[in-house]
Amino acid sequence: MTKAQFQVFSSPEFVAQAVASHIAEVVRARPQTVLGLATGKTFVSIYEALVRVSAETGLSFAEASSFNLDEYVGLPVGHSASFRRYMEEHFFRHVDLPADRALLPEAGDDAEAACSAYEAAIAARGGVDVQLLGIGRNGHIGFNEPGSAFDGRTQVARLTPSTIAANTSDFPPGEVPPPEAITMGIGTILDAHAIVLVATGAAKAEALARAFLAPMDVDCPASALQQHAHVTVFCDEAAFAGMGPKA
Ligand code: GLP
Repeated sequence: MTKAQFQVFSSPEFVAQAVASHIAEVVRARPQTVLGLATGKTFVSIYEALVRVSAETGLSFAEASSFNLDEYVGLPVGHSASFRRYMEEHFFRHVDLPADRALLPEAGDDAEAACSAYEAAIAARGGVDVQLLGIGRNGHIGFNEPGSAFDGRTQVARLTPSTIAANTSDFPPGEVPPPEAITMGIGTILDAHAIVLVATGAAKAEALARAFLAPMDVDCPASALQQHAHVTVFCDEAAFAGMGPKA
């Protein structure tokens, strides 16, 4: 049985405001917070809300650090669909988080070395305090697709056709996502002191129900979160629909 706490809102906008307020509170209480950050369509409105809270309240990220969950392998630097570019556009350029402490797992020439270096960098900061997570329709977290080991560390992962299809709209017309990405492993994610999972829209209802109502199963990577003691799920009613009595 999951220990996760659910906060359910009537719309994605209210979810975004609530997540932004929560993160703002965490950073206010501990300016040196180590944030684990996520990308995806779900998080566009969350960063927008967090940037707004930061501007309105003078919240500073100057002492914070961040580690993103994942990044495609092989996209040219500055590619419009890279997660680095996403983060710059939606968050980094709007806040005072120092650039040298806003990291993504970039593969470079030696992906294996990059994976170990990323793990070491997280450990050197004392671990992730709060990890933000979205969820894929097939239950993936980060780019840990179904079948990924629950104790996996940062690694190069192959994307499933359904994830490639879901993310194709982020790419310019005629382009598709690369087949591989570098991602924190599920074990890396579970090491975070607290986890905030965000799900909005009916397309996520089935994945959310499988993650938290069904027994833990490597076929649903997000179900690994059932073993974590501090998970809060922020979702809208549409995503929560499968969690009801009929699920
Ligand atoms: C992507 C990312 C995940 C994200 C998920 C859902 O593949 N690697 O970190 O949570 O898909 O994304 P979206 O919010 O666009 O539905």
